[in-house]
Amino acid sequence: APECLDLCVTTGDFEAAAKEKLSEKSWVYASSSAASGLSHQSNLDDWSRINFRPRIMRKVNTLDTSRNVLGKKSKLPFFITAMGTLGSAHPGAEPSLVQGATRKGINAVISTATSKSLETIMQAHIDEQQKVNNRSPTRLDFQLYVPPDRKKAKELIQRVKAAGYHSLWITVDSSTQGKRTADRYLQEREKLEQGGREMVREAAAENDFGPAFGGRPTAGYLHPGLTWEDLSWISEEWGGPVVLKGIQSVEDVKLAVQYGMQGVLLSNHGGRQIHSAPSALMTLLEIRTYYPEAFEKLEVFVDGGLRDGADVLKALCLGATAVGVGRPYFYALAAYGTEGVEKCTEILTEELEICMKMLGVSSLDQLHPDMINASPLLND
Ligand code: FNR
Repeated sequence: APECLDLCVTTGDFEAAAKEKLSEKSWVYASSSAASGLSHQSNLDDWSRINFRPRIMRKVNTLDTSRNVLGKKSKLPFFITAMGTLGSAHPGAEPSLVQGATRKGINAVISTATSKSLETIMQAHIDEQQKVNNRSPTRLDFQLYVPPDRKKAKELIQRVKAAGYHSLWITVDSSTQGKRTADRYLQEREKLEQGGREMVREAAAENDFGPAFGGRPTAGYLHPGLTWEDLSWISEEWGGPVVLKGIQSVEDVKLAVQYGMQGVLLSNHGGRQIHSAPSALMTLLEIRTYYPEAFEKLEVFVDGGLRDGADVLKALCLGATAVGVGRPYFYALAAYGTEGVEKCTEILTEELEICMKMLGVSSLDQLHPDMINASPLLND
């Protein structure tokens, strides 16, 4: 692992640093994935199995990395995707993450399962915005685990709205929790050591809504009864842009269009939910092949396994509006707090700019599917 922040050069360096620093439990929570880790691994691998078709001598003296995301301009085409309980990464938790994001001009999606209240996190964002003088305005979005109790759900949505979050990202891949092997080993070992008693939930998240969220960790966030019909009362209650997080097939993208969603986040939850999920890139290619109109009908986002500015550009070439980055930010926060979050953003930005220049584009709207050769991934 790098000895200090200055020696971090790639996003992978944060992973090594965090592994040394975190407790076993927190490390396992962040790094684990479902079953054998297959889906997480294919997220990581697939981005490196497609390559660019660069164009030369196209005048790239100045670059524009900005993007319109759900009606607002963003300085950069990547954001921090939803991750729960960041208190397990760093005592500064979500507010520290948000400070780093705001300083460097990127947006973050805040999880329902946070360590601090959604209002405290928004306040950290507002305070930091004032400090950085709004040069590149950022915003926070909210990831919603729909509480099974509709009254509680509506209360939560109203709280999110009142706090000033920009858009709602409904997680739709969590009818139950994936079987996370590494967490299970740890839990079973703890149970044995405690003479068979069930583990008590560590720290209740501050956004919790009483008994609806009680019981096993995260169990209260799961909603096996959720259907497409629920989107109408949720959208009505919310009144702003809605994105479905965790879409994994072209059929469901078509339904999302039919149900009037503003966006879909193609994601397998970082390989943490269904065993043998398609990688985020595979789903993106499926949409590009069988329903290319989707990119005109709603905004398509992607997360899972993006670790380099080049990965971000690959997703954008194939039609993504913007992409989410998860674990690298968890690790950066864990190892170096707010400064780590800033540095992680700097690294991705630098890589993005280097890659744009050599790809021959001076702004992101020049990116095109022809700049990608995906046959190495599709033909074997
Ligand atoms: C997650 N993810 C997640 N998703 C969600 O909708 N709500 C949540 O609370 C969380 N919590 C969470 C915690 C941690 C520690 C991780 C690693 C992931 C999934 C997350 O939003 C995203 O889909 C993946 O993390 C993206 O993959 P990478 O970038 O981590 O490979």
